[in-house]
Parts: sequence; C-alpha cells; structure tokens
Amino acid sequence: MTDRYAVIGNPIEHSKSPLIHQAFAAQTGEALTYERLLGRLDGFAADVQAFFAAGGRGLNVTTPFKEQAWALVDERSPRAESAGAVNTLIPLADGRLRGDNTDGAGLVRDLSLNHGCLLAGCRILLLGAGGASKGVVRPLLECGPERLVIANRTAAKARQLAATLQTLGPVHGGGLDELEGDQFDLIINGTAAGLQGEVPPLPDGILAGGGWTYDMMYASEPTAFVRWGRQQRAVTALDGLGMLVEQAAEAFFLWRGVRPDTAPVIASLR
Ligand code: ATR
Repeated sequence: MTDRYAVIGNPIEHSKSPLIHQAFAAQTGEALTYERLLGRLDGFAADVQAFFAAGGRGLNVTTPFKEQAWALVDERSPRAESAGAVNTLIPLADGRLRGDNTDGAGLVRDLSLNHGCLLAGCRILLLGAGGASKGVVRPLLECGPERLVIANRTAAKARQLAATLQTLGPVHGGGLDELEGDQFDLIINGTAAGLQGEVPPLPDGILAGGGWTYDMMYASEPTAFVRWGRQQRAVTALDGLGMLVEQAAEAFFLWRGVRPDTAPVIASLR
C-alpha cells in the first residue's frame, strides 16, 4: 500500500498542501498520497487516531486544530513546545505520536535561503501575539537577531509571549502604541488585520533604510501589508507564499528524510 499522508483542518477545501506535497513527491520520486481531511470540530482527537490506526504515515494540522494537536501528542520538538501549537504529526515506531511545528523554520528558510535576508544582528519587529506569531518566535531568536520586539494591539499578550521565551534571546513584548521613535530592519506581520484588508497602525519611519517587510499571509494580489511595505520603501516586501511552501518542505523532510527543491513549487503556485 502507498504511504498515506493528509492535512486535517476545518474548513479544509481551500488548502494548497495536497498540491504542494504531491509536487514534492513527483519531484523526489517518493511514492505517497496526500489528501485533504475535514476534521470534526468536536472530534479532532478521534479523527487523528482513526487516520493513524488505518496506517496513515503523517498528518499536517491546520486551523483550528493546531493547539489541540499540541495537547494531543505524546512528545514534542522544542520548537513545537515553545510555539504552543503543532502543525506536523509523526507516528513513532512504538505507536506514540510526535508533534512538531515547521512554521517558524518555513519563515526563516524563505527569508534567509530564498531571499538572502541576513537575520543575524537584525532588528526585528514581529506584529501580533496570536498563533501565527507564537509559531515563529523561537526559530527567529535562534538566528541571532540584535533584538526581537513583539508588538500587539493587546500589549499584555505580547508581554506574556516575550516573557515565556526570555531565556532564548533578546526578546521584548509591548503594545503597538509603544513603537514611536523605534526602528527595525525587518518587520513581520503575524496579525489577522489583513483579513479585513487592514494594516496594524505603525509610526512613520519605523522601517530602517534598506529594511524588509514580510507578511505571513498571502493572496493572489499583493496583500495590504505588502502594499504598506512598498509605501515604506522596503527593499523587499514579501508575502507568505514562500513560507507556506517551506513549512511543507520541512514537514516532508521530517517524514521522508528527503529535502525537496522548493523554488519550482513556489514559482508554479505564484
Ligand atoms: P492567529 O492564530 O491566526 O494568529 P489569533 O490568535 O486570533 O489568530 O491572533 C490574531 C492576532 O492579530 C492578534 O495578535 C490580534 O491582536 P489582539 O491580540 O489584540 O486581538 C491581531 N489582530 C487582529 N486584528 C487586528 C487589527 N485589525 N489590527 C491589529 N491587530 C489585529
């Protein structure tokens, strides 16, 4: 039987993960299938268990189940541990389930490997303190930035997130309204403001000359945050399509031990 993989979420019909993983499989010659799985809102754990009981080899987890997946697994990678969320499930030989989170690695690989952004010594501003931001803080800190400021509409949430990761590097949390006079080389948007076509309110001059912007969201058109980055004269204003493909590649690598070439897959989705 061909090795079976899937992405589980609710809703799930718009997920691009099957397209991406099928492209990876074709490219690397790995024999596998990858499908969409609609998880029941009140039955996520049972759906996961049924998938693995039937011989499934790996699951990606998406909205709204990433936190439930974190709670469900028997062991977690350090990056999943600090993210408080799991997007990749790996069945272990002894029947236990391991949870990992490849989102942050996806962001870091897209920035540094695909686009040549030097994160070491960088002054980074991360907007938002929800799930999207939580998933990327640890991998960003591991790149050795000069400082990482997490700014959120609700300041307390950003302070709390920064406090839990204090030992990993120079991370600070605060409100969006505390940024006046500050400057950053890279501004990453992890807020949901883009869903309403909005950009979090930021003071003028916050992006340093030669700075970059990155929206963790993506769309067929430039997102509101990509347009904001261009207005701020970012040398590079990226959306999250590369991150999406890179987090998938990282999961593919965890499952198969083979690293796919992401560039042609990103290009075909674009
Ligand atoms: P996700 O898991 O997708 O990150 P979330 O946990 O609901 O979603 O977090 C959404 C993030 O976007 C939060 O940081 C939220 O700020 P609050 O904590 O103050 O709610 C932020 N957000 C949502 N809409 C926003 C807006 N219009 N302007 C600024 N921040 C916004």
